[in-house]
Amino acid sequence: MLSSFAPGKIILFGEHAVVYGQPALAVPVTQLSARVDIEDSPDEQTWIDAPDIGVTATLEDLRRDTHPLAFVIGVIYNSLGARRFLPIRIRITSTIPIASGLGSGTAVSIALIRALATTIGLPVSNEQVNTIAFEAERVYHGAPSGIDNTVITYSQPIYFIKGQPPETFQAREAFTIAIADTGIPAPTRDAVADVRRMWQQKPEQWEAVFTRVGGIARAAREKIESGQVEALGPLMDENHALLQEMTVSSAELDRLVEAARSAGALGAKLSGGGRGGNMIALVPSGAGEQVQAALEAAGAAGILLTTVQ
Ligand code: MEV
Repeated sequence: MLSSFAPGKIILFGEHAVVYGQPALAVPVTQLSARVDIEDSPDEQTWIDAPDIGVTATLEDLRRDTHPLAFVIGVIYNSLGARRFLPIRIRITSTIPIASGLGSGTAVSIALIRALATTIGLPVSNEQVNTIAFEAERVYHGAPSGIDNTVITYSQPIYFIKGQPPETFQAREAFTIAIADTGIPAPTRDAVADVRRMWQQKPEQWEAVFTRVGGIARAAREKIESGQVEALGPLMDENHALLQEMTVSSAELDRLVEAARSAGALGAKLSGGGRGGNMIALVPSGAGEQVQAALEAAGAAGILLTTVQ
C-alpha cells in the first residue's frame, strides 16, 4: 500500500484582492489533512472509495455520472501522460472540513496527484504538482488565483502574487491563530464571481480597495518577518473591513469576529472566499481558552488553534 497526505490551509491576508494581482499570505494547517491510500484492485477496474462523501464506485461509473472526483482523476492522468487507468483501489479520506475555506478539495487533489504519480512510477516536482493542481482548481473555482494549490503543495507559509513564483517566508516569532467555522458552506466560486461583477462595473473603485488590501498583506509579511506579531491584529481588522466592503462577509462571520475581539483577540477577519466557512483571530499568549470559549458561545461549529512559525 502507498499513502500520500496534503495539509489544509488558511489565508492570513489578501483573499479576493489576490485574484486581481495583489499579494496575499497563506499558511498550511498541518493538524488537518487529506489522505490518499492506493491498494491493489480486487479486479481489473479502478475503484474509488471516499467514505466521507459516501462514494464507493468504479472510476468508470463515476465518470458516467460526471462526478468531480472522476474529473480530477482524469485531469491528473492526462497531465501525467498516463495512457490507461490502472487496476487500483484509491481510498480518499480527510480531516479537513468540506467547503469551509480550508482547502479540502485542493488538498484531496494534491494528495491524489502525488499518490498516482508514484503509482505510475513518475517522479513529480512540487512545481509540477502545483501546475496540475491548478488545472483541477480552474474547473471548480472559475478564475482562481492559484494561492490555495500553492500553499498546500509547498506546505509552508507563502507570499503569493498571481503569475509569479511563490515566495516562502518564516515568522521570526511564532504566533497563535484561532480558526473558527461558521458551519455554513463557503460558496467561494459565487463570491469570487460577485466580486468580479462589482469590479467590472466600477473598476477604479474596486482596484483602489484591492490595492489597499495588497498594502496590508505587504505590511503583514514585514511584521511577521521582523517579529512584530502584535501589529498583525489591527491589520487583520482593517482587512476584514475591506472584505465587508467587498460583500463577502456575513452576519455569522461578523458575529465570530466580534466575539473573538471582545474576548481579547488582537484582531480577527474572515479567511478564504467568505459568506460562510471560517474566520481567524490572532490570539495573544495565555488567551487561547478565553477566545475559544467566546467563539463557542457565539455559535462556532468547530474551533482549532494553530501556530504559525
Ligand atoms: C480562496 O481561498 C481565496 C480567494 O482569493 C480565491 C482565489 O484566490 O482563488 C477568494
